[in-house]
Amino acid sequence: MTLRIDVPGGLHAPPPALEPPPCVVVVFGATGDLTRRKLVPALYNLASCGHLPPHFALLGCARRPWSADEFRARLREGVSEFSRTGIRDPAWDALAPALDFVSGDFADPATYTLLRERLAALDAAHGTAGNRLFYLAVPPDEFRAILTGLHAAGLIVPPDAPAFSRVIVEKPFGRSLVTAHELNTLVGSVLDESQTFRIDHYLGKETVQNIMVFRFANSMFEPLWNRKYVDHVQITAAETVGVGTRGRFYESTGVLRDIVQNHLLEVLTLCAMEPPNSGHADDVRGEKLKVLQALRQPWSDTVPLDVVLGQYDGYRAEPDVAVDSRTPTFAAMRVFVDNWRWQGVPFYLRAGKRMKKRVTEVSFHMQPIPLSLFGDGNLCEHVEPNVLTLRIQPEEGIQLSFSSKLPGHDFTVAPVVMDMKYVESFGGEPPEAYERLLLDAMRGDATLFSRRDAVETSWSWIQPILDYCEANPAALPTYGADSWGPAAADRLVQHDRRQWRNP
Ligand code: BG6
Repeated sequence: MTLRIDVPGGLHAPPPALEPPPCVVVVFGATGDLTRRKLVPALYNLASCGHLPPHFALLGCARRPWSADEFRARLREGVSEFSRTGIRDPAWDALAPALDFVSGDFADPATYTLLRERLAALDAAHGTAGNRLFYLAVPPDEFRAILTGLHAAGLIVPPDAPAFSRVIVEKPFGRSLVTAHELNTLVGSVLDESQTFRIDHYLGKETVQNIMVFRFANSMFEPLWNRKYVDHVQITAAETVGVGTRGRFYESTGVLRDIVQNHLLEVLTLCAMEPPNSGHADDVRGEKLKVLQALRQPWSDTVPLDVVLGQYDGYRAEPDVAVDSRTPTFAAMRVFVDNWRWQGVPFYLRAGKRMKKRVTEVSFHMQPIPLSLFGDGNLCEHVEPNVLTLRIQPEEGIQLSFSSKLPGHDFTVAPVVMDMKYVESFGGEPPEAYERLLLDAMRGDATLFSRRDAVETSWSWIQPILDYCEANPAALPTYGADSWGPAAADRLVQHDRRQWRNP
């Protein structure tokens, strides 16, 4: 059977230059939230644009004793609720026959025997040629049972076999340097690194991918992209939502592990990396790794000066959160990249839940002018330095602020902006991160996935901060939902005679 869907009034993304090969995506944890909210809506949108391989199937696996029909019905509800394009009956009806389900315990070898049989049947029915993309949408403590089960059942073939076996591993990749190393060792015991796709969904966001294009497809910015011209960089990831029903997970994670160690460091490395020799996965990831290796190591006497944590008002009353919880929901920090390009330029990072506005952005604050030619007195103070802002989400776009003469008979200077908006330039919202990442994993392109060495290097950088905060449980300042975090976060930058951009 061949999957081809006609899309009237389809989406904006052009077809991928490299079409993915036939394959079955096998999702462990198929009855969970991630599958319903993100994975299947993403696959549906790929299918409805005609971007999935024509020979494709999805096989869900979970403990719940659902039938395949029940599975499809639940996924349909998820797609109509969460798909960015809604759901159209003809598109769904074309995809639905390619969805199947196997119920089983991940620790039971019989589950993998069943999977093997079902996969053979799907190959025969859909022409999927023995190619498998396994997606571990389960908590890390389930990884061992699944990887061992797959391996023992012969469902993972070597990287040079004619068909492929790849595994997508969801974050968190451990909760410390030691556990990340253990997890990587486990994954490495059954898979080659080329078969391992560690997903950080931030890397699939169009605007995050565009950081590299903006830097390396335009010649005018790169000469300014260094300590000579950049005064400092700010990276903000603010959410208005709280932890909701994820209290148990968040209590063992906190903002440092949930956002800083992965999403913010990924964005930072893309902003700070050197131009790679090529766009190939290992050249790009090699340059990103060098940035992580150049991060100034936090020491116990620098952490209190460079890191501010906070907790939102009402966090302790959330379900599954301890009444005396010390889990931070906000972090602001000053970070340095000690290399030739960035020495001395602070990168201020800020992330939090329940903040004033949902916004993720990076802003490059250029050096102030040395001397003002216009007006009297110390006018340099009144000429705002240029700021280049990459708006990751929402209102995706790029903004450049600069000074202009105010119309009139005097040389009066005022800041103005040039603003590129994705919606205006490209006629729609960018596709969801998971669409690109699933497509890339099917195509075997690991550029937008985290490599083992980078994951461990980012943990080894953040570990002293985690250790310090856990060994010195000072009272966490709280902050209100209409704020940008605790006042101490403002003082962190004011101390350097700077201020946070108000997005
Ligand atoms: C996830 C975190 O990785 O990213 C969540 O676990 C967070 O806590 C989410 O809400 C934010 O992602 P996005 O794409 O909504 O910015």
